[in-house]
Amino acid sequence: MKALVIGSGGREHAIAWRLALEPGVEVFSTPGNPGIARVATCIPSDPTPAGYLAAARSVNADLTIVGPEAPLVAGVADAFLAADLKILGPSQAAAQLEASKVFSKKVMVEAGIPTAAYRIANTIEEARAAFHEFHFPVVLKADGLAAGKGVIIANNAAEAEDALAAIHSALGPRIVIEEFLTGEEASFIALCDGASAIPLDASQDHKTIYDDDRGPNTGGMGSYSDGRVLTPAQMQHAMVAVIQPTLDYMRAAGTPFVGFLYAGLMITPAAIKVLEFNVRLGDPETQTLLHRIQDGFADALLRAANHNVAGAELTWKSHPSVCVVMAAHGYPGKPRTGDAIHGLAQAEATGATVFQAGTRAAGHAIATSGGRVLGVTSSGDSLHSAIANTYRAVEQISFDGMQYRKDIGRKGLKRW
Ligand code: AMP
Ligand code: GLY
Repeated sequence: MKALVIGSGGREHAIAWRLALEPGVEVFSTPGNPGIARVATCIPSDPTPAGYLAAARSVNADLTIVGPEAPLVAGVADAFLAADLKILGPSQAAAQLEASKVFSKKVMVEAGIPTAAYRIANTIEEARAAFHEFHFPVVLKADGLAAGKGVIIANNAAEAEDALAAIHSALGPRIVIEEFLTGEEASFIALCDGASAIPLDASQDHKTIYDDDRGPNTGGMGSYSDGRVLTPAQMQHAMVAVIQPTLDYMRAAGTPFVGFLYAGLMITPAAIKVLEFNVRLGDPETQTLLHRIQDGFADALLRAANHNVAGAELTWKSHPSVCVVMAAHGYPGKPRTGDAIHGLAQAEATGATVFQAGTRAAGHAIATSGGRVLGVTSSGDSLHSAIANTYRAVEQISFDGMQYRKDIGRKGLKRW
């Protein structure tokens, strides 16, 4: 099988890396990055649905897998299906589950999926009125795509005003104002074929830039996956109470969901509630999840695209895995680029896999080219040893201005 991976981040490197391990799979990526180029043939493309279609045709791809949300929201899956080419990813209409917080809340409420209480504000005045309906802290969410940075938690009225101004000027008028939930977060992702789904194991992201969940939110500074993030009963519950009702709703609406449906869950003692939907694999959750897959990945993807995911046999390693994101100076604000990266080979010599994200070739060397630069990923017999193994690799790597969290995975150690 020839597989084409659309994207150029750490998640796409992990997808390409995992596919390249499967017998009989030849991997291509567009546009890819220097890390992906080690496991796949990277080809340039115009970043439009027509451009990706041309790339898939040029390599005779049997299946195209879409990493990030932007091409899906732009309609890449619709373009492929119209051209009778296989693609794994939702249509533009189904991608609204991520592209619009207002739409996803509507689906959750109409499909009976547990989520935080909320109000939709179309103006600043409506937002101010909504603050009075909730206790602080209150959560403000921009309606549109914001690369993980469109959510602000305001602890008091002054912070809420600042948040309102920031979200409103940057992202437009509609804002979701939401009840603040507490509990343990889990990223739960299901591989969906339009009608049914199979679960991936659960993982946990670390959203903020600094240790101990301090500082502004980022796209994700690290993750771990361990068979215990959700119990089997919680996974089963999430399939029945969240994933299946969403699939049923989308199918009944004439916009069936094919691809990875990511539910950001808040686990409270009383319930599991959905914080958000994404229409793709998580980044950096994918790095830890795919590190733990034993077998059957390519087959499962193909089956989902062929509307037959129930027959897939995806098997998992029991070993926990950890991914530490190394980010550039300035992230999550404007990152500095062009810093030379040292120690990649030494890091991999420890047994870790270094997934590349914001990197570019600089002669024979590799330099930073984006906010999240690397996702250093390793595993171990226990979560404790997976953490130690990952940080041993991280310590081999250096670049000017690098930032990384020192506490990735520790939440799991505290829980168990
Ligand atoms: P979202 O993009 O909606 O997942 O939000 C990003 C992050 O903001 C989540 O992973 C949570 O850490 C936090 N968050 C979002 N909604 C809530 C909520 N209702 N209560 C508490 N934290 C939230
Ligand atoms: N790591 C969170 C996300 O991919 O949206």
